[in-house]
Amino acid sequence: MQDKKEKENILMEKIVSLCKRRGFVFSGSEIYGGLAGTWDLGHFGVALVNNIKQSWWKKFVDSRRDMYGIDAAILMRQEVWQNAGHVANFADPMVECEKCKEKFRTDQLESKDKCASCGGKLIEAKKFNMMFQTRVGASDDSSAVSYLRPETAQGMFVNFKNTVDAFHPKLPFGMAQIGKAFRNEITPRDFIFRVREFEQMEIEYFVRKEDWEKYFEYWREEMLDWMEEVGIDMNKVHEIEIGDGDRAHYSSRTIDFEFEFPFGQKELFGIAYRTDFDLKNHKLDYVDEEKGEKIIPHVIEPTFGVGRALLTILLSAYNEEGEGDEARSYLKFKPSIAPVICAVSPLLKNKPELVEYANTKVFAPLKAEFGRVVWDDNGNIGKRYRRQDEIGTPFCIVIDFDTLTDDAVTVRDRDTGKQERVKVSNLKNYIQEKIS
Ligand code: GAP
Repeated sequence: MQDKKEKENILMEKIVSLCKRRGFVFSGSEIYGGLAGTWDLGHFGVALVNNIKQSWWKKFVDSRRDMYGIDAAILMRQEVWQNAGHVANFADPMVECEKCKEKFRTDQLESKDKCASCGGKLIEAKKFNMMFQTRVGASDDSSAVSYLRPETAQGMFVNFKNTVDAFHPKLPFGMAQIGKAFRNEITPRDFIFRVREFEQMEIEYFVRKEDWEKYFEYWREEMLDWMEEVGIDMNKVHEIEIGDGDRAHYSSRTIDFEFEFPFGQKELFGIAYRTDFDLKNHKLDYVDEEKGEKIIPHVIEPTFGVGRALLTILLSAYNEEGEGDEARSYLKFKPSIAPVICAVSPLLKNKPELVEYANTKVFAPLKAEFGRVVWDDNGNIGKRYRRQDEIGTPFCIVIDFDTLTDDAVTVRDRDTGKQERVKVSNLKNYIQEKIS
C-alpha cells in the first residue's frame, strides 16, 4: 500500500505534468535549461489566472463603494524601500556550507548542521536581502539604485495622498492592487509555490486606530469567503497566528492562512495589521474634514499570492475516478473560473451539415458571448470528453443528426457525466445560469 507521503508526491507530479502537457504552466526559459524560480503561463494558465484575478477584483473592488484601484510602477525610488524598512529588514536568516558554499534558508533546513547537498558543515552566513537591485538610467552613482518591488503594498502607500486628493474618501476606505512582485528567494521550490517573480493581489485598508481589531476580523472573514468562492478546499485551510519575533518587521498582528499542500502545510495567504508604520515612515497623514483633525490612519492588509491561489485551486479541483477504460482525471473547477466554459463538438467531423450547424448556430454565438469556448472535433466523443475533463471544462456540447431536425444539442456535465438535451435557442441562458 502506498503511504500518504508517496501518494502526495505522486499527486504533485501529476499536477506538474498536467500543467505542462495541457498548457497551464511551463518552466521559465525552458529551452535554455530553465531559470530557477520562474514559470511561464500557457494559454489555459493565463485564462485561469485572469478568472481568479477578475473574481478577486469583482468582490473586493467593483462590488464595493470604499475601495480604490491602483496600478503602480514596479520600479520605485530607493527611498521608498529605505523608509518602508525593506532595505534594512527584508532579509532571510541564512546558513552556508563551509565546503560547497551552497546557501540555505535557516527556516527550511532538514538538518541544522549538515549540508543537504554535500554533507559539509553549515556555518552562519551574512543576512541576504531578497530585493532585486537594479539601476535606473546610465549613471553609475548610488542615486541610480532602484529595486524591483518585493511587495505591491508600497505602490499603494506612496499613492495614498494622490488617492485622497483625487477621491476625498472617508475612513475607513481601501486601496487595491494586482501586480508583479519580485524576491530573490534563496531556495525557490515546490513548482509555482516559492518563486522569484510572482503576482500579488493586495488590499491596504485604512482605518482609525481604535477600529483595527474590528476590521481585522472583518477582513479575515472576507478572505475566507473569497477562498471558498474560487473553489479552494476549505477543509485543508488552517489559520495560524504568527507569534512575536516571527512576523514581518511592519506587522503587529499576522494570521497566515496555510494550506495542506502535498509538500506540507504552508502559507497560502495572509492578513496583517500594519499599524501606521508605513504611512508614518512615508510622512503621510489624513485630514478628517468633518472633525477637523489630522490623523495617521492604521492599516489592515489582506494579501494574496496569485500563483499560490492557482496551485491551490488546481490541487483542490483535481479528481480521479473509474478504472481501466473508464478511468478519468478531471479538474472540478467552479464554472465561474474554469479556463474553458464549454467545448462545442460536431458528432462527426466529416459531415459538413453537422460541422456547418455546429459552427454557425452554436460555436460562433457562444464564443461571441462567453469567449471561453473551444471547438473540439478531434478523435471520438469519449476521447473529447476525457480531454475536456482534464482541463476542467464544465460542459461539452455535441451537435448530432437529431440536432438538424429538433434544434437541440446534448450537453454533458463534467462532474456527473450526465447528459441532457437543451434547445439551441436556450443555450446562452443555460450556460449563463450555470456560471453566475
Ligand atoms: N505585503 C505583504 C506581503 O508581501 P508576504 O506574506 O510576504 O506579505 C504575501 O507575501 C503573499 O504573497 C503570500 O501570502 C504568498 O501568497 C505570496 N508570496 C510571497 N512570497 C512568494 C514567493 N516567493 N512565491 C510565490 N508567492 C509568494
